[in-house]
Amino acid sequence: MKQSLLPCRAGAGFKPEHFASIIQAPQPIGFFEVHAENYMGAGGPPHAQLAKLREDYALSIHGVGLSIGSMQDLDADHLKRLKTLCDRYEPQSFSEHLAWSSHDSVFLNDLLPLPYTGETLTRICDHIDQVQAVLGRQMLLENPATYLLFTESTIEETEFLRAIARRTGCGLLLDVNNVFVAATNHNMDPADYLARFPVESVREIHLSGHSETTDDRGAALLIDSHDTPVKDPVWTLYERLIARIDPVASLVEWDNDVPEWPVLRRDAERAGAILEAAARSRAA
Ligand SMILES: [Fe+2]
Repeated sequence: MKQSLLPCRAGAGFKPEHFASIIQAPQPIGFFEVHAENYMGAGGPPHAQLAKLREDYALSIHGVGLSIGSMQDLDADHLKRLKTLCDRYEPQSFSEHLAWSSHDSVFLNDLLPLPYTGETLTRICDHIDQVQAVLGRQMLLENPATYLLFTESTIEETEFLRAIARRTGCGLLLDVNNVFVAATNHNMDPADYLARFPVESVREIHLSGHSETTDDRGAALLIDSHDTPVKDPVWTLYERLIARIDPVASLVEWDNDVPEWPVLRRDAERAGAILEAAARSRAA
């Protein structure tokens, strides 16, 4: 099984509107990440752009539609399309979410949470075993941004992820913004969550922006909206995390209200500077 091997540098989510700016000059970016579902056609401009990017940069393919947490079998056709895509571009990493997004023939445009029980753990491990067997590569599983907790859950999320990584050999994608969003929504301390997180399995980190609103009772409610720069509390969590773990590929996601390329690149460069500072202090 091919292991996930992204360079320990900062990366950026690739948006087609940035292509012309990106190819003008070498960018201070170690890798780009794309959403798998945007490249499931056979050709056209999306693939022409991705093939060009792939010549110069490492690549992470990030799926949003596999519904790993589904009660049902995985969609074999979707998995086949993912294999075709991975075989075509040989990405350094393939990742998906600890979530579900389809049931029967209904596809929901959202990543929905699931209860953490022995039963869901077994099902998700079976699904990950299947994905890794079909793709012939290690996959990474991303912690979710959640807005509710299930009373049925009997296992803490960090333990659930640790058990999945141990049973399947998959790696983890630690989304620090998701940690901050979920912890705020559930009135918990994000630093406590990160202290419990199985960092030895982390092969990639995500950073992104979120929006702030309030719920029916006036309590703070954060939405994982990917439509702003990375916010200061998330930078602080990231910086403290990077200071205590081995360096790991760190990606800035920006999917809505996408700015000009230099604005996204600035956040990626900030992540890169934090990675380099941590490497320097470790060497010293
Ligand atoms: Fe993410």
